[in-house]
Amino acid sequence: MAISLSSLSLFVATPEQITESRRRTCVQWARGMTQEEYLARDAFTDRFENAANGKLITWVLAERNDPTSLNFLCSGETFRRKGVVWRSTGGRAPQPEKVTCYAIASVFTPLENRKKGYAKHMMSLLHWVLAAEELLPAFPAEWGSPPARVQHAGAGLFSALWSDIGKDVYRRCGIVPGQEGWVVFDPISTIWNIQPEEPSPADTKEGGFLDWKWLDEDGVLKLWESDAEDISGSLEVSKTAPVSVAFLPDEGVAAFQHRRFEFFMAEFPRGRHYGIVSGSASVPFDENVVFATWTMEVHPSAPRTLLVTRLRSPAKDFSRLFEKLMQAAREYRLERIEIYNLGEELEKVAGSLGGEKIERDEHMPALMWYGPERTGEIGWLFNERSVEIDICWEPLEGY
Ligand SMILES: CC(C)(COP(=O)(O)OP(=O)(O)OC[C@H]1O[C@@H](n2cnc3c(N)ncnc32)[C@H](O)[C@@H]1OP(=O)(O)O)[C@@H](O)C(=O)NCCC(=O)NCCS
Repeated sequence: MAISLSSLSLFVATPEQITESRRRTCVQWARGMTQEEYLARDAFTDRFENAANGKLITWVLAERNDPTSLNFLCSGETFRRKGVVWRSTGGRAPQPEKVTCYAIASVFTPLENRKKGYAKHMMSLLHWVLAAEELLPAFPAEWGSPPARVQHAGAGLFSALWSDIGKDVYRRCGIVPGQEGWVVFDPISTIWNIQPEEPSPADTKEGGFLDWKWLDEDGVLKLWESDAEDISGSLEVSKTAPVSVAFLPDEGVAAFQHRRFEFFMAEFPRGRHYGIVSGSASVPFDENVVFATWTMEVHPSAPRTLLVTRLRSPAKDFSRLFEKLMQAAREYRLERIEIYNLGEELEKVAGSLGGEKIERDEHMPALMWYGPERTGEIGWLFNERSVEIDICWEPLEGY
């Protein structure tokens, strides 16, 4: 029988609970790794910049009178991040404001506890530790008393997750019962399947109309720093929504997309490229700067994919940039190129280059806004792969 929700609360996991949580999720996500390898992998990724220094918190839903129990009901992880909010007020151009925001991952209930409402309750309680306190209403009496606010969490203006379980479940996890929770925004990808017999793009040398520079790890890190600064100062916001939000890609956020696959990348040469840029990538960006960054998804059970993490290009330059992506994909013997949310103008060019637009039913970006506006009034800018947190892993050979 399910335990009453009011006797449960949300707690920061103890080290023992973190290990227990990972032992549990190992069953779902290790896909071939031994438990030992899986725990070692997590200990390794805990040191990444996007997780270190209290940014990653594991939470458990547990009985109030036994918060450190290893029999907690379900668990999840949050990553504190920097973001930007733009508000259009009184007809003035919206000014960017740097804010705290969160990415959520690894929501997991063990089999024996499922379908009792625990995950949904845990997700609803997460709002109460992530959102800025002044934005929260009165805590619902039927849930007992609110979870304790803790160091390294709180002050959030928005949070996001990437759903693999449809659009509905997380939407039903509101701050209070009956209110809307995380809403899916544009789960769109454009995909190119690369045929082995396809000729290489003609323009395979440096130069051409645009002056290209390949970027290694150091290069993309610097680029994302400049990119974050550029986004933070941007005045180009949603034309349809009064409030726009964005996650920033620096401080290990975008880098996580390739660092997490590091184990699989031994086959690629050292000093491999994760991006290409035309123009100066230093701040302030030249308005003509064109770039793309990527990760290589090369785990055994999926097509080998050049997955674009961040892209900036006017429509007129996109086909030239795409040639470079093809060149990189071929160099790394990849079978597919995938780009999230190209937007209308680039989509047209992408279609003429053979790209197929699809709606994903996994990795669906879902946003929760904590301000007074409704979610329908929010525009999510730069909703690209760079900001996704997805820590399901495939087997790691030899790790
Ligand atoms: C998803 C999960 C966390 C739900 O945990 P739970 O404690 O059983 O969740 P709840 O009882 O609060 O209910 C969640 C709802 O999700 C639904 N759900 C669960 N798995 C689902 C799936 N794969 N696809 C669609 N809906 C799903 C349940 O049917 C339930 O719907 P209901 O509210 O209409 O009854 C749990 O099934 C799990 O750990 N699954 C494996 C890991 C996983 O997929 N995590 C989510 C990654 S985005």
